[in-house]
Amino acid sequence: MEVKDILVIGSGGREHALIRKLKESPWTGKLYCAPGNGGIAADAQCVPIRATDIEGMTAFAKENKIGFCVVAPDDPLALGMVDAMNQLGIPTFGPTKAAARIESSKVFSKNLMKKYGIPTAAYETFDDPQKAISYLQANQTWPIVIKADGLALGKGVLICQDLAEAEKAVHSIMEEKQFGASGNHIVIEEFLTGPEVSVLSFCDGKTCIPMVSSMDHKRALDGDEGLNTGGMGTVAPNIHYTPAVAEECMEKIFKPTLAAMQAEGCPFSGCLYFGLMITPKGPYVIEYNCRFGDPETQVVLPLLETDLVEIMTAIWEKRLDQYPIQFSKDCAACVVLASGGYPVKYETGFPISGLDQNGQHPDAIIYHAGTKYADHTYQTAGGRVLGVTCTGPDMAEAIKRAYHAAEQITFEGVHFRKDIGKKNM
Ligand code: AMP
Ligand code: GLY
Repeated sequence: MEVKDILVIGSGGREHALIRKLKESPWTGKLYCAPGNGGIAADAQCVPIRATDIEGMTAFAKENKIGFCVVAPDDPLALGMVDAMNQLGIPTFGPTKAAARIESSKVFSKNLMKKYGIPTAAYETFDDPQKAISYLQANQTWPIVIKADGLALGKGVLICQDLAEAEKAVHSIMEEKQFGASGNHIVIEEFLTGPEVSVLSFCDGKTCIPMVSSMDHKRALDGDEGLNTGGMGTVAPNIHYTPAVAEECMEKIFKPTLAAMQAEGCPFSGCLYFGLMITPKGPYVIEYNCRFGDPETQVVLPLLETDLVEIMTAIWEKRLDQYPIQFSKDCAACVVLASGGYPVKYETGFPISGLDQNGQHPDAIIYHAGTKYADHTYQTAGGRVLGVTCTGPDMAEAIKRAYHAAEQITFEGVHFRKDIGKKNM
């Protein structure tokens, strides 16, 4: 191992969590983030290159002799950022474009699961709206779930209670193209019930090592009411992920998924995110993401005790099977502070009070999701503004600490859920 300069691609709370963890490693030289944000700038040199600008990013990496690159968001992965970095010989963490299809195409991932017997909701795929409507007209069990094939900012899933709602969904996805080309194909699938669990895992193409489990809170308001958001908070570990469930997931889902991707000629390397539902029939895959989750990363990485640069290097060298990875036995909670009106319409540019010079707080780890630094202060610059994370010896303590810190940080219109982790005790 040698010290190397590292480039992290992306700009949110997840990227800040990756950077804070990478910064702990003695193997990290200079740290860059492109494009980053105001708060990330306290921990890494931010470079104004768009995350999807492959040409700009590879030119920067070459010029600055980047020794390792970490691609965090879904869109550069789906566009082939990792393939482009690999062509330059730059060791990179993340799946190739072909492997990223596990997230960027729901038709691909559903067909993969069916072919290899991985438990997932029964489904049909359609590219013709008329055929989709005929199928729905014959359907007997409601609700039913309709998903746009491609990336849709986490909004491409519609749960339809009856035929009228389902016809409307098909119309808006396939004809009005609510999600653009992502809606050229759709998946219609069985509605499943049960608690949801997020499991991020380290993968090197052959081996899959799950990280500590977590629970997301996707709805904007307390009690899981309101609109879907990018995630309003997370806790780890998830109580529904018992040792027996973990064992079943390893045998029926994790190992078979890695083997399936290898067999399809696109081995998965990077972080594979399993979005699971623990149904009465056992764990089912709701979705795969080809990357670290946001805000799951903000509770998972603070519990990671093993050097992240060493893990990423082991993945690059395909020797993850020989690599022991340790997580703390503590619990973690992250409360997201959002702009008033998020996820619909919100204003930005409000000064944030309660942070120190580095954008931190003495009682918590502050991950900056949407901030800028101007006029000597941190200001809001996005819908999700900050993630406030605390760890503790048990769930109740981690949550109490995170809320204690969150309440001391404020800005005009600030909104946060008051019940993060409540379902996890
Ligand atoms: P996704 O974008 O695939 O994660 O879906 C967003 C959310 O929709 C999930 O977190 C689930 O809560 C819900 N969902 C997706 N698929 C199903 C399904 N087959 N049955 C029930 N709920 C689902
Ligand atoms: N928290 C869910 C995601 O990252 O897509």
